[in-house]
Amino acid sequence: MKIFLDTANIAEIKKGAAMGVVHGVTTNPSLVAKEGHKDYKAVVKEIADILPLMAPISVEVVCDTVADMVADGKRFHTWAPDNVVVKLPMNAEGLQATRELAKDGIRVNMTLCFSANQALLAAHAGVAFVSPFLGRLDDIGHDGMQLVRDILEIYRNYAFKTEVIAASIRHPLHTIEAAKAGAHIATIPYKVLEQMLKHPLTDIGIQRFLEDWKKSGASNL
Ligand code: E4P
Repeated sequence: MKIFLDTANIAEIKKGAAMGVVHGVTTNPSLVAKEGHKDYKAVVKEIADILPLMAPISVEVVCDTVADMVADGKRFHTWAPDNVVVKLPMNAEGLQATRELAKDGIRVNMTLCFSANQALLAAHAGVAFVSPFLGRLDDIGHDGMQLVRDILEIYRNYAFKTEVIAASIRHPLHTIEAAKAGAHIATIPYKVLEQMLKHPLTDIGIQRFLEDWKKSGASNL
């Protein structure tokens, strides 16, 4: 399972990329607003410079007509053509805009997916990625991970090429469950990446080895 960072925070993306564990980034209007960015284009270009070549960066439209979605999508794509994936909402306009953008070879991440039927339609429209929001389903008492499993099963049955991004991840258990289910990608907040990395026994072990080495008086020079 590949790991995308779900953030518009440049420092977090730099840290994740430096560890070599980040395969892409997803942004959304809320994440961009949270960082106080005013220039979306500059942010996307900066992210593209940080990530490995060809790493997907999801850039979300903030409009509601097919014409605007297509125009925005085409414009976003020019910002970093090897990286930009246009994030479109899961609705009729989003599906139609997907078809239009596909004519120019522009990939789409269909966002705000909350049902297996929506995911089936998205795959038929030819999206490259679909993003089931499992955390938001959990928030309202539904089983978000079951949706991820259902979509994967349906896609396998019919050999759809659409990749499933487990999105709206809240904690490290979500990441483990998404990987066990076979999700292609999990897009995670940086905090969850840190939680995946850390284990108290690892920290204690490192500390103990350092102390014992110091006490031994041995040299590795
Ligand atoms: C995915 O692409 C979205 O940006 C994200 O996962 C939304 O997560 P949230 O429910 O924490 O806002």
